[in-house]
Amino acid sequence: MKVENAYNIWADQYDTNSNKTRDLDTKSTIETLSKLEFSSVIELGCGTGKNTIFLIKKAEKIIGLDFSQEMLNKAKLKINDKRVKFRKADLTTEWKIDNDSADLITCNLVLEHIEDLDFIFYQANKKLKNGGAFFISELHPFKQYSGSKAKFETENGTQELETYVHHISEYLNVASENGFELVELKEWFDEENQIGIPRLIGIVFRKSTVGNNV
Ligand SMILES: C[S@@+](CC[C@H](N)C(=O)[O-])C[C@H]1O[C@@H](n2cnc3c(N)ncnc32)[C@H](O)[C@@H]1O
Repeated sequence: MKVENAYNIWADQYDTNSNKTRDLDTKSTIETLSKLEFSSVIELGCGTGKNTIFLIKKAEKIIGLDFSQEMLNKAKLKINDKRVKFRKADLTTEWKIDNDSADLITCNLVLEHIEDLDFIFYQANKKLKNGGAFFISELHPFKQYSGSKAKFETENGTQELETYVHHISEYLNVASENGFELVELKEWFDEENQIGIPRLIGIVFRKSTVGNNV
């Protein structure tokens, strides 16, 4: 099943089923982004808007992009605010947003579904203002190596989604090649498992203010 269709089905239970990855992502996002100042935000793969609720506490303008209409419908039911625009868009095609317009781009639990990170970082660099931040929070590659991937339960059994493994070196190299500097890299663990395999990796990059000719 295509990823877009899977999320259209998952949308109904995405916010309510038991999901440690989703819940830890909420925590990591709030803890990480509370330290940053931002006004204009692009949220990649915004889904049901679970993180938009936090972002709107600080931002003046948010554009949430997602290719699942059902996930977006949930987000629109949750958030009715003229500062927030939810748009149906495939992140693997050119983002129809003004260049140099955002001071924060967030991307939570999305990149495991996207093979070509280079395109995402290239677009992110174009859309961010100089000095703007790019926050990614993803299933940790160590977790991916051990077989974890996005999945949900249906009446016909477990539905596993199409995913791609991204190594830590890939994130760092692609970011550097696209004009980003590393600001923070953090591993996030389940509360009951602080010394095992981390569940999430959270990385904050900043668009370089020099040599941005990508
Ligand atoms: C696990 S959900 C995460 C949603 C939200 N960011 C969160 O943290 O709750 C992944 C989201 O990414 C979206 N997505 C995956 N690949 C995409 C693509 N190529 N273009 C747009 N959206 C995509 C899915 O539709 C889904 O809503």
